[in-house]
Amino acid sequence: MKSFRDKRRDSRPARAEQPRPRDAFAPARPPAKPAERPEPKDRQEVKPAPRIVARREGQLPAEKLPLILEVAPNADYALLDSGGGEKLEQYGPYRIVRPEGQAIWQRALPAKEWHRADAIFTGDTDEEGIGRWRFPKSPLGETWPMKHDGIDYLGRFTSFRHVGVFPEQASHWDHMAGLIAAAKRPVKVLNLFGYTGLASLVAARAGAEVTHVDASKKAIGWARENQEMAGLADKPIRWIVEDAVKFAEREERRGSRYDIVLFDPPAYGRGPKGEVWQLFEDLPGLTDLCRSILTPKPIAAVLTAYSIRASFFAIHALMRDTFAGMGGTVESGELIIREKSAGRALSTSLFSRWVA
Ligand SMILES: C[S@@+](CC[C@H](N)C(=O)[O-])C[C@H]1O[C@@H](n2cnc3c(N)ncnc32)[C@H](O)[C@@H]1O
Repeated sequence: MKSFRDKRRDSRPARAEQPRPRDAFAPARPPAKPAERPEPKDRQEVKPAPRIVARREGQLPAEKLPLILEVAPNADYALLDSGGGEKLEQYGPYRIVRPEGQAIWQRALPAKEWHRADAIFTGDTDEEGIGRWRFPKSPLGETWPMKHDGIDYLGRFTSFRHVGVFPEQASHWDHMAGLIAAAKRPVKVLNLFGYTGLASLVAARAGAEVTHVDASKKAIGWARENQEMAGLADKPIRWIVEDAVKFAEREERRGSRYDIVLFDPPAYGRGPKGEVWQLFEDLPGLTDLCRSILTPKPIAAVLTAYSIRASFFAIHALMRDTFAGMGGTVESGELIIREKSAGRALSTSLFSRWVA
């Protein structure tokens, strides 16, 4: 039996961590192949030398925990109900049913409400399964218009259970937008593992100059579409298909610096050239790198983690250690979505953020 925490995998992009043809998240562990058919060079796993992390001197930042950041039902998105291993969500015009391993309780809404779904993610719900979408009313296109706080973007039925947005991240977006506005100066934001770019769009709209990095060309394509859709094409966003660690290392060498760094890594992923990302091995090095590429007047570094067997205390300790000597506060906890029907909290991820 899987642990409760492990079941988180069902609600976040564990698909990024598994071999999936046409997965939006390019990084995937390659399936075992016969020895006589070696992988093409660009698909081979590459394990870059790990960063040597020295203990940071100085006083640890103040701390605030546990902090539970909550997304409540709103006009653009709502977790309508959950239970019986599934969740019923409203994404703009569509009602969507997806597996949710953590929903071990009973549904609060009657069956007729669930039967009104426009799209249902079916198929294998285990870690390895390739699922499918079913449209009980009428066939739907791949994308549909969505909004977040006035920003237009596209919802998307991806090959796996994801829909092109992680609504729980809205808590971070709002916080970040507030920090950018409060800075009253030009702010540079780096969004590592940026996916379809909602955080980048929120940052750009708030007035920041944004660098968005993701290993998946497809995800970057979707992010660019979202930028157009949002009417933010004139905002300064650099879209970069690159391994997050390699990019951050290069920025460190080049002396490029950022006021805010967001990093939302999967448990397992791969860069475009097969660079392997493994959270437990690589997160300490990347966190250290993120500190190194902050400007002399930094604003924040925001880490989210999911699909891992860990407590937020673990990433809290990592962040506090890494930001020793920087002052500020490390705040850590969980991102949750509040259900509309019975008010239960669905936990989606752990987070830890350093705020100056
Ligand atoms: C959970 S998604 C990030 C979600 C995003 N923060 C958001 O809120 O929309 C993880 C992303 O990491 C990307 N990824 C995986 N391994 C990577 C790597 N080594 N370097 C850069 N991006 C990677 C995937 O392509 C995927 O888009």
